[in-house]
Order: sequence, then C-alpha cells, then structure tokens
Amino acid sequence: MISWLNHVAIAVPDLKKASAQYAALGATVSEQQDLQEHGVAVVFVTFPNTKIELLHPLDENSPIAGFLEKNPRGGVHHLCFEVENLDAASRKVAEIGVRILGNGSPKIGAHGKPVVFLNPSDFQGTLLEFEQM
Ligand code: CO
Repeated sequence: MISWLNHVAIAVPDLKKASAQYAALGATVSEQQDLQEHGVAVVFVTFPNTKIELLHPLDENSPIAGFLEKNPRGGVHHLCFEVENLDAASRKVAEIGVRILGNGSPKIGAHGKPVVFLNPSDFQGTLLEFEQM
C-alpha cells in the first residue's frame, strides 16, 4: 500500500539561504511559491529519485512557525509517501491504531493532490504525509 517516497519536507529559518546551499551543490531549485491556504512559503528541490520541500512560515499562525520555534536552526518536518488509494490507506492506518491529524478527511496538498497526515505520536515521533497518486 505505501509506495514511493515523494518528498522530504524540511523547515528552514532562511528560505533564500537554504535554496542557495542546495543550488550550490548542483541541485535543481524552484522559485519560491507562497501557499496561502497552508500558511507556508515553499521551494522545491528536485533530485533524480525524490524531492525536498523547503518550508518557511508565511506568518506566526503557520503550522511551521511553532516547529521553528522548537527547532530554530530548522530540521526535518515530514516525509511524504505516495499511496494509490487514500481511503484504503486511511482505513489501514486506523486498523493499526494510528490516528490521522485533523478531522481525518483528506486535504488538498502542495501538489494539488489529496493528502492526509498521520499523528506523529502514534508513529515513532515522525510526521508522515500520504499523497494520493
Ligand atoms: Co509535504
């Protein structure tokens, strides 16, 4: 059911500096995109086998703002895995006793596809995102 690693999301205190560091290493770095509905500015870094999303809060209400408060130098925020069927994946997640964040129903993610996030308290302290392909 769980499939390809789609992206690793990293919260960064300085989006320009982070972008410049990856670009200096020869990675393909996108322009900054402001995703108002998610409260984040994001830069996509593309590699041959996966992507990194560099995340920075748009304002103090952003979900990333609290994370950066606890991790001021930045850090890994979540891992995103592709799933074929989000409803089936959500049922399986419930079966193994893992809660989905929010009201449990999918939201539209940064790539315009439905996503859910698993409660990190139920999953080794790691925030996982499932994105329907
Ligand atoms: Co993500």
